Amino acid sequence: MDVACGAAPVACAVADALPSAEVWGLDIDPAAVALSRANARRNRLGNAHFKVSDLLAGLPRRLRGEVGAFTMHPPYVARREVRALPREIRGFEPRHTLTDGSPDGLGLVRDLVEEAPGWLRGGGVLLFEVAPYLSRPVQALMRRADLEVTVQADPGGITRVVVGRLRG
Ligand SMILES: C[S@@+](CC[C@H](N)C(=O)[O-])C[C@H]1O[C@@H](n2cnc3c(N)ncnc32)[C@H](O)[C@@H]1O
Repeated sequence: MDVACGAAPVACAVADALPSAEVWGLDIDPAAVALSRANARRNRLGNAHFKVSDLLAGLPRRLRGEVGAFTMHPPYVARREVRALPREIRGFEPRHTLTDGSPDGLGLVRDLVEEAPGWLRGGGVLLFEVAPYLSRPVQALMRRADLEVTVQADPGGITRVVVGRLRG
């Protein structure tokens, strides 16, 4: 389940790597969902499905308690920091792809940490790709939700992905 999938680089990679998995990509932006569908079609990924959805609002109910993994690369720039971004980002990326408008940039992360456990099966995981300076705050949110926390570094040794596992 790739939340805020954009053009679906993550959802398509997972669908390709795990052909027997049912993969979903969700995004609030209809243009992103249209691009995701086109990318999945182009790569012949019949197991990838996409839906316009504000966070998990559009998820089919039958998947409650069945999801093995959530991934999310959220718009994590703090509201006041958007104007400090380089022009080549600020001037071209739609604002909702950069920030969720919260003071610390973690509004959607907080919402997903709260909502995802109800959809995960026991032992299922929640993975966030964030900037290294947000790794610790995201870990703290996950621990507060009683998730078992680990981190994954990128090839340069920099923490990029925070993983929370539902116990059980
Ligand atoms: C940083 S981009 C990540 C896109 C993609 N996952 C990637 O790694 O290339 C953030 C995405 O979050 C989406 N988004 C913003 N608010 C959202 C919300 N409330 N629910 C779902 N998606 C949202 C944006 O439309 C955008 O596609």
